[in-house]
Amino acid sequence: MSIQVTNINKFYGPTQVLHDVNFSCDKGDTLVLLGPSGAGKSSLLRILNLLETASSGELHIASEQFNFGASVAEKEGLKLRRKVGMVFQQYNLWPHLTVLENLIEAPIKVAGISKEAAVTDALAILSTLQLEDKADAWPLQLSGGQQQRVAIARALMMKPDVLLFDEPTAALDPEITNQVVKIINQLSETGITQVVVTHEVDFARKIASHVLYLEQGRIVEHGSKEAFINPTTPEFAEYLTH
Ligand SMILES: Nc1ncnc2c1ncn2[C@@H]1O[C@H](COP(=O)(O)OP(=O)(O)OP(=O)(O)O)[C@@H](O)[C@H]1O
Ligand SMILES: [Mg+2]
Repeated sequence: MSIQVTNINKFYGPTQVLHDVNFSCDKGDTLVLLGPSGAGKSSLLRILNLLETASSGELHIASEQFNFGASVAEKEGLKLRRKVGMVFQQYNLWPHLTVLENLIEAPIKVAGISKEAAVTDALAILSTLQLEDKADAWPLQLSGGQQQRVAIARALMMKPDVLLFDEPTAALDPEITNQVVKIINQLSETGITQVVVTHEVDFARKIASHVLYLEQGRIVEHGSKEAFINPTTPEFAEYLTH
């Protein structure tokens, strides 16, 4: 089991945004989180790498165990995020660093890898993502799709067990979206577990091994990719018609 979420509840002040969420996910799965705006998808995703703490419940991820009843220390979050990477919709690249420098920063500063080893890794990852000629470019010289691939490359530098994506294709045109589909599908063959939040049903269908459909902080449907063809709940069936 790569991820196990048990009885997760999340409040922001008096407002409960996640209600008793339970699911698990095997190594190498690509789990897509779907649901209307405000359903709690991003909140749930951010709990998976402790960018947010849940109000109660348990999280087992990348061989680590967290009980949100007790307080989770910030330092545990830092440690976990080396194994559970996140790619954001806003690529969050450092504009004052070149592509290569963006990639080697965390491995050198956080993971203590030598510069030479980090550069070798970075060039190999850039080449897999067809960005080898962009190593010395500045982020702002790249197209949105190229910046998104650099953001994925940067997350891969830490060799994460789990990779989380929040709306990775929201700003991308269909052709670039298909490149992201290819990258996610190739990564799943390497055994990395991926959790992807998206609004785009077509994109979801192309990458999902499993799907979790949420409404108002509750899981409505959880199934394999079969659920896209044969949804078991009227809510998810309705959502798929959008
Ligand atoms: N930091 C916060 N403080 C207070 N409320 C928040 C915070 N973050 C999210 N919320 C609320 O929690 C609920 C779930 O938000 P969340 O961002 O998880 O939804 P989402 O499913 O990702 O929506 P979208 O598809 O619009 O990104 C919303 O009602 C939102 O207003
Ligand atoms: Mg969101």
